[in-house]
Formats: sequence, structure tokens, C-alpha cells
Amino acid sequence: MLIHLVAAARPNFMKIAPLYHALERKEWANTVIVHTGQHYDLNMSDVFFKDLELPEPNIHLGVGSGSHAEQTGRVMIAYEKVLLKTRPDLVIVVGDVNSTLACTLAATKISYTGAANSANQNSSADRIRPLVAHLEAGLRSFDRSMPEEINRLATDALSDILWTPSPDADENLLREGISPDKIIRVGNIMIDSLEMLREKIEKQAVYTEFGLEKNGFGVVTIHRPSNVDNRESLEQICRSLDNIVQKIPLIFTIHPRTSKKLEKYGLKDTLNNIMGLYTVEPLNYIRFMNLVFNCRFVITDSGGIQEETTYLGIPCLTVRPNTERPITVALGTNRLCTPENILKEVDSIISNSTCFDQKIELWDGKTAERVVESIYSLDL
Ligand code: UD1
Repeated sequence: MLIHLVAAARPNFMKIAPLYHALERKEWANTVIVHTGQHYDLNMSDVFFKDLELPEPNIHLGVGSGSHAEQTGRVMIAYEKVLLKTRPDLVIVVGDVNSTLACTLAATKISYTGAANSANQNSSADRIRPLVAHLEAGLRSFDRSMPEEINRLATDALSDILWTPSPDADENLLREGISPDKIIRVGNIMIDSLEMLREKIEKQAVYTEFGLEKNGFGVVTIHRPSNVDNRESLEQICRSLDNIVQKIPLIFTIHPRTSKKLEKYGLKDTLNNIMGLYTVEPLNYIRFMNLVFNCRFVITDSGGIQEETTYLGIPCLTVRPNTERPITVALGTNRLCTPENILKEVDSIISNSTCFDQKIELWDGKTAERVVESIYSLDL
């Protein structure tokens, strides 16, 4: 079975790695990694391949940055050519980035029997194409101003197989009229990566490089357009961080988008001059997770970090009005907050030493195995 495993951007790499390794052990699977090139910096891509023990991608589309339409369109054009040349049986897309949707669109509209634009494309008798499976299906923020929400809705509407992480995801899909036959709950694949590398993560003590102590600091990652693409919100976040470091030091790993916006709004020096706030370039997976393992709390707007902190029982403050991962709020350590009230939430974390030990079903490091079983059972 020829399987394309599509990866594009930083949060995708920890989702494909456990599956790649599990498929590599199966004789019946020929797994090809397709990197669209949405993220291309060394520290946004290559370092993750190294940490997660992934080989160089077999196919690299090299699309780079651009507007949403440009990026999505470039991936579709490049991937269509690859599909026609290589004819995979199964295309696996993960997460919710622009490339996830672009590859889904290309793969569900392709016809191996003729040119992609041929007139008989719609004749079901002639239509031979790969199956498309979405790993991490069904998550919804119900906020269509988020580009990822559009990507999730469209990817799930088109995919043939929907591998979900939690019951809320199943319910969302069913509510959208998706056939229950397509939905298979497999659990959370990110936890597989975390468990796979736990020993290497625990071996380090990255915080000592900043002269900090275990549990004596917070970790910050902020990159969503809604937080960083306008001056007012980014300025407010910087003010909040300035107030928080009066109480506890922070390590802020700066995403390329955030870095550009800080520069644009003249906030870079302000941030760099805050005592107790350590700004660093994006870190590789093992070093970043080591900081998360040892911190007092995380301030973020990322999706995956809400899940990792929940799994680890570490308080997480998500600077967003909503989350597509409500289970992390209902059962985990996650709390939503605004740029204005992060300090208040930090205060409540610092003064409260409650331990979280809530396990979420199927977040157990065995999701890749369940996905492999599901693939094996396909009639291809
Ligand atoms: C993308 C995903 C988002 C994910 C995030 C993780 C979409 C719509 N968004 O957002 O869901 O949480 O990745 O990082 O797909 N850039 C670099 N080097 C890189 C990559 C990007 O400098 O390696 C810069 C470029 O100027 C680019 C900007 O960062 O325009 C944003 O990159 P892009 O991939 O468009 O979106 P992200 O904000 O990273």
C-alpha cells in the first residue's frame, strides 16, 4: 500500500512521526513523507525531523510563505503533479494548517485515469483516486474568523476517513451530517511523540541555561494572527508579560510571525529590555518540551500545547476567546484568558498548588498503533 504522509508546518511533525515509525514496521506499507514546505526555517522544520527521528522527506514541494490563497493554491498545484506521478493508495493529512486542506482538495479531486481537468472527471466509473484520511479530525472552535477552522471544516467534509482524538470531535462530525462509518476514534497522536521521546526530554535541564529553577518560571508561546497581527493586542500582551515577570520569570519562544510583528510595531526592544523575560528563537521539540515539563505554567495560543500540558498536568493559560480542544478545559489544566487578564490568571495559579491527575481516554501513547490497525483494515 503506497501511503503519503503529508506534513507542512511545525505542529504537524509531531503528529506524523509516531505514525511514520509505526508504519515503517509493517511490510505491507510503503510510506512516503510529503513535506509541502509551508514551514521552511531550520528551527521551524529541520530540527523537528532530527528530534523525531524522521528521515529527510521523500518529496518536498517547497511552497513557502504567502497569503492563504497563494499558499493553498501553490500546494494544490504542486501536489496534484505528485499525485498523478506517484498514485498513492492512501493520503494521510494531519492537523488544520493550509497545507492540510490543500492536499485534501488535490487528492479528493484527482482522477488517476485521466488528466485532472478532463471532462469525464465527474463520472464515478472513471474516478479512481486515493482515499484521504484526516488525523485529528472533528476539532471545532466554532470561530470561522480562524483560518484553521475553515481548514478543519473543509478537510473533514471531504475526507474519507476521520480519525478523531476525543468524543467531542465525534459529536461535531455527526452534527455536521458526516456518516458515522467514516469516524474512528483513535486518540491523541501528539501524546505518542511525547512518550516516544520522554527519556530524552527528561534528561535535559534547559532552564538552568537561563539560571532558573525547576517550577520557578513560566513558558510563553504566542503566534496567532488574532493576537500578534494587530498592534493593540500585541502591545497588551507585552504589558501583561511585563507585569507577570514582577512575580515570576518567563521564557518566551518567539515564532517567526510574532518576531516580524514585534519588529513592525517597534516592540522588539521593549520586550528585550524587560528584566526577567527571556526571549529565545523557536526551540526544537526536545528542548521545548523539557521547558514545559519543568515550568510552573504555560501561556500560549497554540493548539497542541493545550493538549500536552493537560496530559502532563501543567497549568495552561490559552490567550484566546475559544478553543477547538474544549476537553482540555473541561477535563484538563487549560483556562482561556484575554491579553488583559493573563496576570490575574497567573496569580491564581501561583497561589494554588492543586495537582491535576485527570487521564483522558485514548491519550495513552498508543494512537499510532490504532491508526495502523485502521489502515490495515481498509479494503484497498
Ligand atoms: C501556521 C498555521 C497555524 C499553526 C502555525 C504553527 C495555517 C493557516 N496556520 O501558522 O495553524 O499554528 O503554523 O507555527 O496554516 N515564516 C518564517 N519561517 C517559516 C515559516 C513561516 O519566517 O519557516 C514566517 C513567514 O513570514 C510567514 C509567517 O511566518 O508569512 C507565517 O507563516 P505561515 O505558515 O503562513 O503561518 P503561521 O503563522 O506559522
